[in-house]
Amino acid sequence: MFLSMANKLALVIYDTKYGSTEQVAHWVAEGIGDADIRHVEDVTSLFYDLIVIGSPVYNDAPSSHIMAFLDRYKENLANKRLAVFTVSLPYNMTPERAKSYTGVHGLTELTGKIKGTVIDTKAFLGKVEEKELTALDRLSLRIQYFLKGYELKDANFMDRGAAITWGRKLFELATKAPEPVTKERKDRKIGGSTEVPGHKGNGQKEEKK
Ligand SMILES: Cc1cc2nc3c(=O)[nH]c(=O)nc-3n(C[C@H](O)[C@H](O)[C@H](O)COP(=O)(O)O)c2cc1C
Repeated sequence: MFLSMANKLALVIYDTKYGSTEQVAHWVAEGIGDADIRHVEDVTSLFYDLIVIGSPVYNDAPSSHIMAFLDRYKENLANKRLAVFTVSLPYNMTPERAKSYTGVHGLTELTGKIKGTVIDTKAFLGKVEEKELTALDRLSLRIQYFLKGYELKDANFMDRGAAITWGRKLFELATKAPEPVTKERKDRKIGGSTEVPGHKGNGQKEEKK
């Protein structure tokens, strides 16, 4: 395995069937400003401070390739800081709903596979273009939509601004102490904890549940 010439801060790993998760991965990387991007089947190194995992959602589940990747590299990722995003398009999405969309579609399945520290998660909206779909996917989506009382039609809720903004946030989280450093917590090792950042520290060790 070769060391890259200049090591980047972050690696953005994605899977995609119709390109939208790849597109969001590029925007997130743009926001981070210092990131490599790799398809999940193309990952050659995990030697990064931050690993961002991006998965599309199909049939109410995250990408099986991403799930398999998280299984296979569970131990390699155990001491890492990670961020996870999904790209999905709920059948009942409207421009109004999109504005306040905070869906967690597929995210809990993904974060449940991760032993490392998940510094942030985000559910992005994707797109559906009927003419792009394989015949099987088109049929399967038509049936899903029909059963829910909707008709399948083209929709595009991709949001470049939201993805770049989240990338910037990840850069901040990954390059600064993940929580306000109080006098009592100054000795805390960044990245050395499996504690979820954002937990309000009081200087005492969190009790195991
Ligand atoms: C066969 C199929 C099943 C899908 N199932 C879901 C679903 O269960 N929930 C959802 O929110 N979006 C679903 N979607 C929408 C996709 O998540 C959305 O199109 C996404 O942008 C696809 O990502 P990709 O372009 O990276 O492949 C489905 C799309 C397809 C083609």
